[in-house]
Amino acid sequence: MSQHILTAVAWPYANGPRHIGHVSGFGVPSDVFSRYQRMAGNKVLMVSGTDEHGTPIQVQADKEGLGVREVADRYNRVIAEDLTALGLSYDLFTRTTTDNHYAVVQEVFKGLYDNGYIFPKTTMGAISPSTGRTLPDRYIEGTCPICGYDGARGDQCDNCGNQLDPIELVNPVSRINGEKPVFVETEHFMLDLPAFSEVLGSWLQSKQGQWRPNVLKFALNLLGDMQPRAITRDLDWGVPIPLEGWSDQANKRLYVWFDAVIGYLSASIEWARRSGDPDAWRQWWQNPDARGYYFMGKDNIVFHAEIWPALLLGYNGQGARDGKPGALGALNLPSEVVSSEFLTMEGRKFSSSRQVVIYVRDFLERYDADALRYYIAVAGPENQDTDFTWSEFLNRNNGELVAAWGNLVNRSISMAAKNFGAIPEAGDLTDADRALLERSRAAFAPVGADLNRSRFKNAINGAFDVVREANKYLAEQEPWKLKDDPERVKSILHVALQVVDDAKTLLTPFLPNSSNKIYAMLGGNGVWSGMPELREVEEGAEETGRAYPVITGSYDEGAARWESAPIRPGTPLAPPTPLFRKLDPKIVDEELARLGE
Ligand code: MF3
Ligand code: ZN
Repeated sequence: MSQHILTAVAWPYANGPRHIGHVSGFGVPSDVFSRYQRMAGNKVLMVSGTDEHGTPIQVQADKEGLGVREVADRYNRVIAEDLTALGLSYDLFTRTTTDNHYAVVQEVFKGLYDNGYIFPKTTMGAISPSTGRTLPDRYIEGTCPICGYDGARGDQCDNCGNQLDPIELVNPVSRINGEKPVFVETEHFMLDLPAFSEVLGSWLQSKQGQWRPNVLKFALNLLGDMQPRAITRDLDWGVPIPLEGWSDQANKRLYVWFDAVIGYLSASIEWARRSGDPDAWRQWWQNPDARGYYFMGKDNIVFHAEIWPALLLGYNGQGARDGKPGALGALNLPSEVVSSEFLTMEGRKFSSSRQVVIYVRDFLERYDADALRYYIAVAGPENQDTDFTWSEFLNRNNGELVAAWGNLVNRSISMAAKNFGAIPEAGDLTDADRALLERSRAAFAPVGADLNRSRFKNAINGAFDVVREANKYLAEQEPWKLKDDPERVKSILHVALQVVDDAKTLLTPFLPNSSNKIYAMLGGNGVWSGMPELREVEEGAEETGRAYPVITGSYDEGAARWESAPIRPGTPLAPPTPLFRKLDPKIVDEELARLGE
């Protein structure tokens, strides 16, 4: 039974290049999941884009002495290029500064407003006493009321990661001139979160046993204290408030998180328009059998397990105030919020300013995408905070990718190519032959079940068990010693090649580049698992507006299926080229030196 599966991937801020901590949270897991679902015959829509509004972009623009649009344009392109190079199979990776996104965000705002879930409120905003001008959140600094860190900013605390309001800071000061801000009345719109606490509570309860326990626990905890939350800011960079008397106020904008989460919907709508069927998005958002999986790091849980479902419920008219669905119609809630924990770097927090960082681009200049994808899948922060170390990267690359998997592929294909020039036919099978074949065929169900539940470590270990079994089989059968029994050698190599073919299928979601190569080596035609491409597009239905790059791809054209497919004896084999690069142990010291260690 084919299902519609929305893979909703957190939107990276366009305020700088992404590092490997970021892509270990939202990037690689979402791609592994999507590739598996496509192989299992499901219809996947994987969307995201760059998050380009609000304080993070303004801070970077100030730092670089550029305008916000220039900063957003620059990093939108850098990020789109890097995610493409990593092989992330987005159906559409777009951005939040498109006309389409603005229109969809404003529609959702209006739907919530009409249903009574958004109301205006007079709150206190900071101004500079000497100039009388509004002091943006990012220019206020003080002590975090939650963790006590004394460099917290008005919008968030970088130490504990909590989102803040400037007025909550203990001892706030202006970063511009050190003066103490004064708080004066200002009008804002609030989202009536308490009106959703009951529905959210039962919705979350229904996820017991399905979501990762840490994620569910965190989300349930949030329910304890639900307050109305401001969804507008005194700021000039963001989506205008679509109400008379508000839309033309240059200094009132929707809060960046309000617009960003709506990106999942706007990107789906943009994708549908570009695919030539403007209503196609509805299959993923309105079909009751469709499922939606949201991938992110744990600092995003509150927005995906509380705020976003609340916005959807309010738009649908399903909170305590009831109401009716907005113009787009009722929309599906997430099926699962799949959040990772944090990755640290050689025992320290990633920090761009302190150079404790390795950017995706720099990584991929020196190492292959599959090597990084492998590390993240097998040793990433799936269920607990996890440390990236260069020595572990080296060991896993050389010991597992190169010595176990690469070597199995290489010696099986090269022995068969050298002795027979083609995939040999099997003769009578021994018990050992049959056991190995059965072992690898039997791996599809449990590994697939793990992938379907985002248990990526279990899944990749299950696939690698097949690789280890196959290596053991070759070591025991020793085909290289059977020069005078070519018929037996044929059978052994046939079995080995069948298991290589199965293992390349099992590993495709994780290692699409090398699996594509193995597919070709074993005589496969066309594309196996499609790779993303960067395409230049233009805005608007007529595509005559601003140009920008998107990531997209025709993944359904790939032949990859989640099953064991019989290899075809007689298929010509050429001597293989190595799949993975063995790394020199000295890279560890070189990389540590780059980190200043
Ligand atoms: N830009 C945010 C971050 O990097 C993530 C936004 S995800 C979305 O933490 F929900 F807003 F889309
Ligand atoms: Zn804090």
